[in-house]
Amino acid sequence: MTPPDYEYLRKLLKDHSGLDLSADKQYLVESRLLPLSRNSGLAGIGELVQKMKGGSTAVIAQVVEAMTTNETFFFRDKLPFDHFRDSIMPEVLRARASRKTVRIWCAAGSTGQEPYSLAMCLKEIGAAISGWRIEIIVTDLSGKALEKSRAGIYSQFEVQRGLPIQLLVKYFKQSGEFWQINADIRAMVQQRRLNLLHDFSPLGVFDVVFCRNVLIYFDQDTKIDIFNRIAKVTEPDGFLVLGAAETVVGLTDVFKPLPERRGLYRPSSARSNFGKTPPIGASKTAAMAGL
Ligand SMILES: C[S@@+](CC[C@H](N)C(=O)[O-])C[C@H]1O[C@@H](n2cnc3c(N)ncnc32)[C@H](O)[C@@H]1O
Repeated sequence: MTPPDYEYLRKLLKDHSGLDLSADKQYLVESRLLPLSRNSGLAGIGELVQKMKGGSTAVIAQVVEAMTTNETFFFRDKLPFDHFRDSIMPEVLRARASRKTVRIWCAAGSTGQEPYSLAMCLKEIGAAISGWRIEIIVTDLSGKALEKSRAGIYSQFEVQRGLPIQLLVKYFKQSGEFWQINADIRAMVQQRRLNLLHDFSPLGVFDVVFCRNVLIYFDQDTKIDIFNRIAKVTEPDGFLVLGAAETVVGLTDVFKPLPERRGLYRPSSARSNFGKTPPIGASKTAAMAGL
């Protein structure tokens, strides 16, 4: 790949997906785009770039898709899901007791393991949410990731990463070498294509936002812009959950971190009585405690 082609791709990816590649990531671009150019019958990345410069929106979309990193797994990092079960949901159920609706957004939820982990947490909460309307919306830039999320079909390797065996047995059906998450869990999650660089206000307002392991790919200004716009779609008493390597600290004060709950944030306007709501007793099942 020539240096001008690399510079062209860097700018294009920054504009289309927010991906902020440093000057020395040619190897990454080559490893993702050489197979794409070969499969498209092109001689190499140079020809791919020519097609993009010629205005081929299909090739641009394929390049942006190929450069997404969809790495994810069930109950990734464990702690956010402990927070969800023990801190977030008890508080949200108390605060929404009169309207009995909860809206959860999994931004950049990739192939579905994250929203389905939340859905399984909710199933385990059981009776306490019976009669509640709980929506989980998962969005992602990658159409392929969302397709897999919609199907809810995972390999043996994928179900062995982070998923307790009790939950695998309880919520999945085996089909040959694969496992499909049960229809009632799939029905709890709605998939939508969404680029975080674009307006997401049409999604409505959420009680809980999981936005994990995506902002690490963006530059500081993009992160600040996204945090500010997430704040606008988060209920004033809602929650934001970030990945282990992400924080709002030093970037914006629209969210503030919760002391002693790493990765958990609340809008700055939230009242500070958090932590006084007792955990949901029914959620302490053996399966969940084993996570
Ligand atoms: C590393 S995965 C994280 C998945 C999950 N949140 C987790 O923590 O396990 C990052 C996801 O962000 C998505 N992504 C990258 N840029 C995006 C953008 N501009 N808008 C929406 N999603 C994006 C990718 O397609 C990918 O699925």
